[in-house]
Amino acid sequence: MGFTIRPYQPADLPELYRICLLTGDSGADASGLYRDPELLGHFYAAPYAIREPDLTFVLTDVQGVCGYVLGCRDSYDFAAWMENEWLPPLRQKYPLPPEGDTSRDAAMIRLIHKGYIPSRWARAYPAHLHIDLLPRAQGQGLGRKLMNTFLERLCEFKVRGVHLGVGRRNVGAVAFYRRVGFELLEEFPWGFEYGLKLEG
Ligand SMILES: CC(C)(COP(=O)(O)OP(=O)(O)OC[C@H]1O[C@@H](n2cnc3c(N)ncnc32)[C@H](O)[C@@H]1OP(=O)(O)O)[C@@H](O)C(=O)NCCC(=O)NCCS
Repeated sequence: MGFTIRPYQPADLPELYRICLLTGDSGADASGLYRDPELLGHFYAAPYAIREPDLTFVLTDVQGVCGYVLGCRDSYDFAAWMENEWLPPLRQKYPLPPEGDTSRDAAMIRLIHKGYIPSRWARAYPAHLHIDLLPRAQGQGLGRKLMNTFLERLCEFKVRGVHLGVGRRNVGAVAFYRRVGFELLEEFPWGFEYGLKLEG
């Protein structure tokens, strides 16, 4: 009730960071797990909105932004941009932690230094995406609507497929991706990759 999907605007960026954190523990609130509240968003939300704003959509209600879908149309191009533009200043800001640091912050900082490496499925399914809704927006068909908005835009861009990764603890998201038409591509110790062919 009272939800709207609209294109991303630059002023939404702090909300993307916030939602990324509030859904960052396999779909649940990760804010107790990180000392730095921006680390997850630096990798999993902000770069997409900044590089591909025309592929970023937000869900809003009277309280404000309560969900998003974002991604890239070509994972190899995105990886190159991450390496050349987005990650270098973050690597300066967050030096590599000592080996013995097992905190979640340290793990994210190591990921920032490792960089984004495209899935082997990115050749056949070039795009990838992330979708996150706050609890007040979940379970009402809005994730499906956001996903359809994103997929329609990919079709307009003539993209021929999209893939995504989901952790095995996130059983709700796995069920969602299957219901909205994604097929299992590969199983990993950490979770699954799903894909969807498009008429690109
Ligand atoms: C996963 C998520 C995007 C799904 O969006 P949603 O709005 O809750 O899902 P919808 O209401 O649009 O559901 C669409 C379909 O998926 C199914 N589905 C959604 N969540 C489900 C769940 N937890 N368990 C079982 N089925 C589920 C619905 O039953 C529905 O099926 P139907 O349309 O055939 O009846 C959303 O719940 C979310 O953002 N969760 C937290 C963050 C997260 O986990 N993101 C994914 C990270 S990989």
